[in-house]
Amino acid sequence: MVSHKRLLMNTFSLFLVFQFCHSIDTITANQSITDDGDSQILVSAGKHFVLGFFSPGNSSNRYVGIWYNASKQMVVWVANREKPIKGSTGVFKISREGNLVIIDRNQEGPPLWSANNISIPSNKYFAKLLDNGNLVLSPQDDSGNIVWQSFDYPTHTHLPGMQLGFNRQTGKNKSLTSWKSPDDPASGDYSLQLDPQGSPQLFLYKGSVPVWRSGPWMGDNWSGVHQPMGTFFHYQYVNSSDEVYVTYNNTANFTFSIYAVFMLNDSGSFQWLIWSNVQPVWTRYWEALKERCDEYGRCGGYSSCTTNANNGFECACVPGFQPNKSGAAAGGDGSEGCVRERRLECGLGKAEEEFLKLEHVKLPDTVAARVLNDRSMSQEECEKECLSNCNCTGYSKVNISGGGSGSGCMSWYGELMDIRHYSDGGQDLYVRVARRNSKGFNKRRMLVALLTVPVILLAFILCCYYLLQKRQRKVTTKMQPHQELLFNSNANPEEFKSSFVAAELQEAEINSELSFFDLSVVVAATDNFSSSNKLGQGGFGPVYKGRLSNGQEIAVKRLSKYSGQGIVEFKNEVMLIAKLQHRNLVRLLGCCIQDEEKMLIYEYMPNKSLDYFLFDETRRQLLQWEKRLEIIVGIARGVLYLHQDSLLRIIHRDLKASNILLDSDMNPKISDFGMARIFGRSQTEANTNRVVGTYGYMSPEYAMDGLFSVKSDVFSFGVLLLEIISGKKNTGYNYKDPYMNLIGHAWELWREGKGLDIVDSCMGEGDCYPGDEVLRCIHVGLLCVQESPSDRPTMSNVVFMLSNQTIMPPPNQPAFIMKRAPYADSSSSATGTASCSINEVTISVVEGR
Ligand SMILES: *[C@@H]1O[C@H](CO)[C@@H](O)[C@H](O)[C@H]1NC(C)=O
Ligand SMILES: *[C@@H]1O[C@H](CO)[C@@H](O)[C@H](O)[C@H]1NC(C)=O
Ligand SMILES: *[C@@H]1O[C@H](CO)[C@@H](O)[C@H](O)[C@H]1NC(C)=O
Ligand SMILES: *[C@@H]1O[C@H](CO)[C@@H](O)[C@H](O)[C@H]1NC(C)=O
Ligand SMILES: *[C@@H]1O[C@H](CO)[C@@H](O)[C@H](O)[C@H]1NC(C)=O
Ligand SMILES: *[C@@H]1O[C@H](CO)[C@@H](O)[C@H](O)[C@H]1NC(C)=O
Ligand SMILES: *[C@@H]1O[C@H](CO)[C@@H](O)[C@H](O)[C@H]1NC(C)=O
Ligand SMILES: *[C@@H]1O[C@H](CO)[C@@H](O)[C@H](O)[C@H]1NC(C)=O
Ligand SMILES: *[C@@H]1O[C@H](CO)[C@@H](O)[C@H](O)[C@H]1NC(C)=O
Ligand SMILES: *[C@@H]1O[C@H](CO)[C@@H](O)[C@H](O)[C@H]1NC(C)=O
Ligand SMILES: *[C@@H]1O[C@H](CO)[C@@H](O)[C@H](O)[C@H]1NC(C)=O
Ligand SMILES: *[C@@H]1O[C@H](CO)[C@@H](O)[C@H](O)[C@H]1NC(C)=O
Repeated sequence: MVSHKRLLMNTFSLFLVFQFCHSIDTITANQSITDDGDSQILVSAGKHFVLGFFSPGNSSNRYVGIWYNASKQMVVWVANREKPIKGSTGVFKISREGNLVIIDRNQEGPPLWSANNISIPSNKYFAKLLDNGNLVLSPQDDSGNIVWQSFDYPTHTHLPGMQLGFNRQTGKNKSLTSWKSPDDPASGDYSLQLDPQGSPQLFLYKGSVPVWRSGPWMGDNWSGVHQPMGTFFHYQYVNSSDEVYVTYNNTANFTFSIYAVFMLNDSGSFQWLIWSNVQPVWTRYWEALKERCDEYGRCGGYSSCTTNANNGFECACVPGFQPNKSGAAAGGDGSEGCVRERRLECGLGKAEEEFLKLEHVKLPDTVAARVLNDRSMSQEECEKECLSNCNCTGYSKVNISGGGSGSGCMSWYGELMDIRHYSDGGQDLYVRVARRNSKGFNKRRMLVALLTVPVILLAFILCCYYLLQKRQRKVTTKMQPHQELLFNSNANPEEFKSSFVAAELQEAEINSELSFFDLSVVVAATDNFSSSNKLGQGGFGPVYKGRLSNGQEIAVKRLSKYSGQGIVEFKNEVMLIAKLQHRNLVRLLGCCIQDEEKMLIYEYMPNKSLDYFLFDETRRQLLQWEKRLEIIVGIARGVLYLHQDSLLRIIHRDLKASNILLDSDMNPKISDFGMARIFGRSQTEANTNRVVGTYGYMSPEYAMDGLFSVKSDVFSFGVLLLEIISGKKNTGYNYKDPYMNLIGHAWELWREGKGLDIVDSCMGEGDCYPGDEVLRCIHVGLLCVQESPSDRPTMSNVVFMLSNQTIMPPPNQPAFIMKRAPYADSSSSATGTASCSINEVTISVVEGR
């Protein structure tokens, strides 16, 4: 009897498993989801989101939630957050009334949780999990109506497409509430709400106490959010008489998926996390309470907070105010708020009052502020408006272009609260004070003059010095001799070369996949080299994106006409280069030679180049340590192949971040690698004052004496490696000492035993990356940029050192640690090259004519 029942149940669950295998996204009246196994889930159509039963953290309680398919730990919504089910007896279904409910099979009575009280008795409803993570309940009548949706009841996560805000008509608000703990999704202490008063602001509350404030909306970001919001996501603020809300959507156009969530975690940290399948971890992109000055009212009224060195803070009274002496704990610095130096005698007008300007601030709390949406209002009118009301304490001329609010004037009534000062960005605030007497004013003026004169003088001297340096550098560069790539052997180099080329060419002709494209095909593919298809301007000519008639995407490099090489020679070179195949080299598909035109056709790389990610404040966050190491090792392997493992032995001569392209999985691919060959030979004839290479990546012996060898590529690689680790450019690097470049700074820190200080702060602090592994890489980088080429490792050493824990020699002082033009010490490095080049490719220096 019992076994019979069991058999029946088994058949039943088998049926369900079968049914759910096809990962449905909808349940209708007679279907339900039970807590019987992993197959009992809803999966959204694009497979981005999953709905099912889960237990948070270490808890054994069961909840119905929605999470990312790709990342199960990111639960974005919980239905029965306050009413856990004690065992696996929960059922999620549409009730007979058409309502979405969760019931406990072990419990009689009303459902544990229900979505909506639907009054029309009907079972003709269905619930569907959409691809943006929204669960909607709709009637089955194709009307497309939504009677209930989970996006209207956010828990602790703000997903793209969801609106967070306040409905002025109904008084209803959509806000976030933290979980109690990782084990308990019930409402915790923290909440995030959009306060509709004054100029609407986001507030983070602990209980009913505000702990953080976004500041008013400034058109494309919040006054108090010092980070661009719109790189991958279009962040939108809408304020109308009906409602005020914020929302955002994904605008990233990469070949990989990228997810984002704003999340209020259970310890009250409101953060923006980003996940991509290139780097499948949730990375914190922004956080509300990062610095002490972000804490609401840290400094009290009329006092401005500035972040200082060790993530501490300083409070300073706004102009015309002095520290509140009656505050017992006040150290005389305004941390207990500030009071007026002179009482404001209202009504006397402009003669007795003035406005003092405060630059680069997060605007004070706007709960009691008034916004005049008049685009044409001038600053004088703004000022007048403020003067006309005795309670007005300050104003700001703002430009709120977003949300259709236009620009205008914001004025404050009452105490100016929660001001913070930024070193750059932010807004200007004008604070109303009683006019100072003329004596005081003069004193101030004199002080300013006394301070400014020396500063201007100093700036002038620095400016002159810089210009002088620049001129000298230019002269040095211009004088570069020209060089040609030859292959060394005991025989006559020319002879060796031609026989070598001939042999390779024969082989190439037999099994080359190189195509010769007709000019008309390339013209059609690139829309006649239209400027909208231009991807960039390389050192050898512009690059265009194209699409062949079969749909294949290509990149076309249109070589500058002055390459001067004969057609036969050029063809031969290209056929040789097309034979170079390595996963870290961009693949050459073919070429096009017609009349004056010479073009190279490459595979198209959708994710642009490394510099596009590395040197961008936002995109750089997609590259965490593991990915960066992969990129470093990939580049090293590619260069090693060029130097040693390919038959051609090529010196790249222009390794730099913009020449490293990224494929759809963000694997690095070196581009422009055959250019040294194609251009090397002809340069002497065609273009006498051209130096291939990029300042900042050039080794000293190349930059100064025009000598290059595989070791100059090693140098460039070392620079690139340090750039990847630090996320900073070698040139244009600005840290403390303006004359020190990245290499110099890395070297100084290394000597002081603080090598890890160079690491990109985007990769997180301390234990977010393995310190010893990063240090090993920095060590390798410093070995590569040593002054003397013979001290630098070969690429095969580099690849070995990067992937093995081996003992490495200590690095010597690198070359060019200063940004100065390199004109000292040239002789020593020249001899260095000459003596170490026996078995490698050597250079014959041909003076330019
Ligand atoms: C649900 O089942 C009942 C009885 O089995 C049936 O009458 C009803 O039509 C079903 N409803 C739907 C929407 O399939
Ligand atoms: C779960 O318990 C383990 C062991 O007690 C503990 O290390 C871990 O931090 C707990 N996890 C959570 C999310 O509480
Ligand atoms: C979603 O999860 C299923 C397994 O549950 C997996 O087969 C599928 O590849 C996942 N899809 C994505 C986009 O991660
Ligand atoms: C649904 O109805 C019940 C009983 O009438 C009531 O207690 C509950 O508050 C209602 N829920 C909603 C969301 O209106
Ligand atoms: C928004 O809703 C929450 C919870 O319902 C409530 O505590 C809060 O006061 C509301 N906020 C506003 C601005 O009405
Ligand atoms: C707003 O974003 C821009 C970049 O989009 C940035 O330059 C500016 O500093 C930001 N404002 C604040 C207050 O952070
Ligand atoms: C937001 O909208 C309300 C109502 O339309 C308006 O009173 C207020 O001035 C607006 N705020 C801003 C900053 O535009
Ligand atoms: C994002 O929203 C903006 C403004 O609403 C819209 O113009 C844009 O098309 C949206 N982008 C996507 C990818 O949905
Ligand atoms: C995204 O990229 C695809 C392929 O490169 C392109 O067809 C599409 O127009 C792009 N979309 C946007 C919004 O840029
Ligand atoms: C919440 O976020 C903060 C800041 O990122 C982090 O330190 C803390 O550990 C997080 N709390 C939990 C429980 O994850
Ligand atoms: C000055 O500080 C005292 C004590 O903290 C406080 O009671 C008083 O309100 C403060 N005055 C002003 C103007 O902030
Ligand atoms: C100024 O504020 C006081 C107290 O808050 C109020 O009584 C008065 O009406 C206000 N005056 C004006 C002109 O708004």
